[in-house]
Amino acid sequence: MQLNITVLPGDGIGPEVTSEALRVLNAVAGKFEHQVRVNQKLIGGSAVVRTGNPLPDDTVQTCLSSNAVLLGAVGDPSFDRLPVDLRPERGLLRLRQALGAFANLRPATCFAPLLQSSPLREEIIRGTDILIVRELLGGLYFGEPRSTSGSAPNRSAIDTMHYREPDIERIATVAFKLAQARSRRVTSVDKANVLDCSRLWRDVVTRIGKHYPDIELHHMYVDSAAMALVSRPSQFDVLLTENMFGDILSDQAGAVVGSIGILPSASLGGPVGLYEPVHGSAPDIAGKGTANPIGAILSIAMMFRHSFELEEEAVTVESAVLAVLNKGYRTEDISTVGRFPIQCAEMGRRIAESISHAEIRTGQLT
Ligand code: IPM
Ligand code: MN
Repeated sequence: MQLNITVLPGDGIGPEVTSEALRVLNAVAGKFEHQVRVNQKLIGGSAVVRTGNPLPDDTVQTCLSSNAVLLGAVGDPSFDRLPVDLRPERGLLRLRQALGAFANLRPATCFAPLLQSSPLREEIIRGTDILIVRELLGGLYFGEPRSTSGSAPNRSAIDTMHYREPDIERIATVAFKLAQARSRRVTSVDKANVLDCSRLWRDVVTRIGKHYPDIELHHMYVDSAAMALVSRPSQFDVLLTENMFGDILSDQAGAVVGSIGILPSASLGGPVGLYEPVHGSAPDIAGKGTANPIGAILSIAMMFRHSFELEEEAVTVESAVLAVLNKGYRTEDISTVGRFPIQCAEMGRRIAESISHAEIRTGQLT
């Protein structure tokens, strides 16, 4: 198969982790005889520096004419004072919009070799296998009006949370369908005791749920869900939620399963899928070579699965990650006391080699 990929390394640790993900992509392509064509483009702060625009038109056009997009991360504190349209994050939000990527899938799985890496006790996290389905194009991130007015010390700011029924219907449908291939449980997370948007959310999710009698649907308030996520994480299967709640809960889920550094994501819904690790640009460790590339590498697995429907290739990537973790290799974020951590590039190389050289038995990840 011909795989035309747009790569957007972006800012911070983005370039480090995407180059390891590409190494793994090439290893899989070599093994399964696919042809990869990679087009690298600018996004985020690095695009602002070079072009004055966090999402140049050329980047959008290239993404739209490729089969899938791999993104590293955007954001850097040095851009914090720029006007909102020039902020690196704006580039990513506009890209999600341009790609019609309303469905953000963020799996958080507790891998057996990483049981010790979580701040939580083993018996709490064992068996955790959550798929967060985050609505990505609505809510506070895109609602209008939004503004800051007045002058200090009397400024005031406004953001708008806005959801329309069809926006909720389509993301709920995605969640129920995905639950059918899993443990058939959907927990919809909202704040219906306070927010109108959440009352609408709960109403619509309940209505859509009636079309899926095989799926057990529960509703939870977001505060209580945050607590359950650290006290009983293994009770969740699919966790369906709106944009902002999903942003917050997915970082938390990352810590629960050992490190946000291992979390991949897929943003789907439009013609071209967008794949990115959940961790962000991590400016504090950028350039040190200590980042964990596993989130980006597992995003390649998601790309094979969701954009190319190449399940065996996807499982090959996941099995290689697991094999390398099983051998005891750890980057700094997941290493435990007494272990010497390896660098980002070594982790990437070991995973790629495990794909190219070893006969990997494909099977379940956990
Ligand atoms: C994420 C990030 C983004 C978000 C930022 C960088 C805009 O935190 O993908 O979770 O808030 O969606
Ligand atoms: Mn986030």
